[in-house]
Amino acid sequence: MSKKYLIVYFTRTGRTKSVAEYLQNELSADCEEIIDKSNYKGGAGFLKGIVKSRAYTKIKDIKYIPSDYDEVIIMSPIWADAITPAIRTYIKENCSNIALASIITTAMKSNLENVGKEWEKFSMNINKVLYINQIDDNSLLELKEKLVKNG
Ligand SMILES: Cc1cc2nc3c(=O)[nH]c(=O)nc-3n(C[C@H](O)[C@H](O)[C@H](O)COP(=O)(O)O)c2cc1C
Repeated sequence: MSKKYLIVYFTRTGRTKSVAEYLQNELSADCEEIIDKSNYKGGAGFLKGIVKSRAYTKIKDIKYIPSDYDEVIIMSPIWADAITPAIRTYIKENCSNIALASIITTAMKSNLENVGKEWEKFSMNINKVLYINQIDDNSLLELKEKLVKNG
């Protein structure tokens, strides 16, 4: 039987959303956008994102219950070499309901060497930790293959 996946993501400018939607289609997954109640739009929002990159925030209520899934794929843009406040908050609030998680980051240049692996401090089993910076057909296919390799 195929694995039941939930994809959760935060996006400010749509890059992470485009990867989430690709994986949603490829994996026949349910998909939930995490909405930060704070506004990070525009130039002021960018600066606020830098300042708040290591903070928690308030997010809108979620629709999907993570414990209903075999694996939750958690996707975040990288802000100042950290995951976003919305995704940090989602993990904190839901980690006890997540049997198995994979983490995927999107960024312009930061790879996982640069990024603080703060998801490790939450009590959650981690399957894969992957990143995608350049978003094109080959990179998306490569990401999907790494994600599903060996389960
Ligand atoms: C506040 C802020 C900080 C960022 N910091 C980094 C960074 O440290 N390294 C990096 O490679 N990209 C950084 N970026 C670029 C984003 O990680 C990248 O564009 C991401 O894919 C955007 O995803 P989104 O379109 O889903 O919001 C930053 C973007 C923002 C808004």
